[in-house]
Amino acid sequence: MRSILSSRLARASPRPSTTGSSRRTLISQPAPRLVASRPLPTNISAKSEEAQANEEFMKGLVEGLREMRSKAKEGGGKAALDRWKSRGNGKLGVRERIEALLDPASPFMELSSLAGHDVYPDPLPAAGLVTGIGLVAGRRCMIIANDPTVKGGAYYPLTVKKQLRAQQIALENRLPCVYLVESGGAALPFQAEVFPDHDHFGRIFYNMARMSGMGIPQISVVHGISVAGGAYMPAMSDVVIIVKNQGRIFLAGPPLVKAATGEVVDDETLGGGEMHTSVSGVADHLANSDGHAIRLAREAIMDLGRASKPVKAQETAVAVRPPVYPTSDLNSIIPVDSRQSFDMREVIARVTDGSEFREFKAEYGKTIITGFAEIHGHTVGIIANNGVLLSPSALKATHFMELCSQRQIPLVFLVNVSGYMVGEKAERGGIAKDGAKMVRAVARAKVPKFTVIVGGSFGAGNYGMCGRAYSPRFLFMWPNAKISVMGPDQLSSVMQTVSGKKEQPAQEGEDRWKSLREKIEGQSAAIYSSARIWDDGIIEPSDTRDVLGLGLDLAAEELALRKQGGGGHGQRGEIGADGDAGDWGVFRM
Ligand code: COA
Repeated sequence: MRSILSSRLARASPRPSTTGSSRRTLISQPAPRLVASRPLPTNISAKSEEAQANEEFMKGLVEGLREMRSKAKEGGGKAALDRWKSRGNGKLGVRERIEALLDPASPFMELSSLAGHDVYPDPLPAAGLVTGIGLVAGRRCMIIANDPTVKGGAYYPLTVKKQLRAQQIALENRLPCVYLVESGGAALPFQAEVFPDHDHFGRIFYNMARMSGMGIPQISVVHGISVAGGAYMPAMSDVVIIVKNQGRIFLAGPPLVKAATGEVVDDETLGGGEMHTSVSGVADHLANSDGHAIRLAREAIMDLGRASKPVKAQETAVAVRPPVYPTSDLNSIIPVDSRQSFDMREVIARVTDGSEFREFKAEYGKTIITGFAEIHGHTVGIIANNGVLLSPSALKATHFMELCSQRQIPLVFLVNVSGYMVGEKAERGGIAKDGAKMVRAVARAKVPKFTVIVGGSFGAGNYGMCGRAYSPRFLFMWPNAKISVMGPDQLSSVMQTVSGKKEQPAQEGEDRWKSLREKIEGQSAAIYSSARIWDDGIIEPSDTRDVLGLGLDLAAEELALRKQGGGGHGQRGEIGADGDAGDWGVFRM
């Protein structure tokens, strides 16, 4: 599978330069650079012993990440895939379906590829669902595809969570959704954890209605079984394509129908493509094979009109300057010992255009760095940690977020935070109210936010630095990153103190704290987070700039679509209640 990380979506030849031309034009041009470029200095020497040790450490982590990813891509494995393919003419695996759907040169930014890793007693690679963003017929789309080789494509709790997250990203960025459907529906033994609650199975269809109501196209291709609740995936779509003799849509399969009504009926008669395209109208197009169905889906995307904007090279091209320092240096910045500090400006210098950074309030609240820069041509406000959060740093970050929100400049958070300062001095100085100002500013900033956790994200620092609960449009982790309420040492020491009142044999106590420490250590790891979809994926440090660039492009396009009134009239944000935005959506007739 092509990766977005090797080449950015839709970046093409630069616009003609205006410098050196004195002729006037009525056509708007990119602003000439009025300020001399001033790259950040660096103190990293690739040859130093420290940098080499750091690099070896990070490369080990990246290697481990690649191995886990490639294992997850195998889904249920070759035997399961062969068994699946033998059931129909020209049946494709989930990865092949996605490959065929994407434009030939399109990268694919896969989301949460390690979801489900080591969570359930049985393996559930990628949580049985592949999600990601790629170009289909020239338009950026969210692709949501069941992997039937993983537990029949059944929806475990994390499968549901993964689909809901992909839908949320699609909604926030107004991305048309293409569902490649082949699933046994809700994972029945987990029905209590997938069926009844707010963010359970039903929410998938609620989201489809809501997105359709906002004019965000919903297209389904039914490759195989789509049963019970799962039948609503196609039934709720604006356009449905079904594969002849392979796709099946029914509320109950033949065994259940027999048990319920005594009626004896075969799969094809009950829910096959011919019946649904010619009798029931549940599907719109009949395809002869998986490949044909994918072609029809690509055609359907071509006909989206103003609901989606094709990515045209001329429109998006900007003369983008790469950082002065190689992004591969990012592997040498993180110290082997996570408690050791590092200067986040070194990271900024390898993420921003020309390694430039216009720092704001550099001499005040120095444990946080704030300032403006461009990333792939988009102006951003960067907030990055350089130590524990003190009152002045919290106030500075708040001030800066107000500026960015007022000026409509997206915010990028580069996180390595142990939390807000504790102790009498800090409390007397009002750290709680100053931290709260920063947390409020993050929650209320009216601009797209992007979070990359490059080190630790601990305690309330996780909130102030735009953790998951603060709705960044994307949140990615570096392989070394850690998230928890506090470090394992501190946590077990707090627990020892609060539990110290009870008598217990010394050895037993020690074992208990050791195992608690190990448990917290494991729960803080990036893979633990990514497996549970607390983030959108673990990225290699050198991909940070491109991942942010894509997020910023998507946000800029979403804003443009919103302004031109295309893609419905809803608002960005959480899918709300009481039909507060959009209309009915497309009823299937
Ligand atoms: N819930 C939980 N597990 C399910 C499942 C479901 N809805 N559907 C399939 N699975 C699991 C099976 O238990 C099996 O697990 P195992 O490999 O650990 O034994 C695996 O997925 C493959 O299923 P299997 O039946 O062996 O494969 P198949 O290719 O013959 O059939 C289905 C696949 C999906 C057609 C078939 O399993 C099926 O009909 N499932 C039930 C569908 C249903 O009625 N769902 C109602 C949901 S509300």
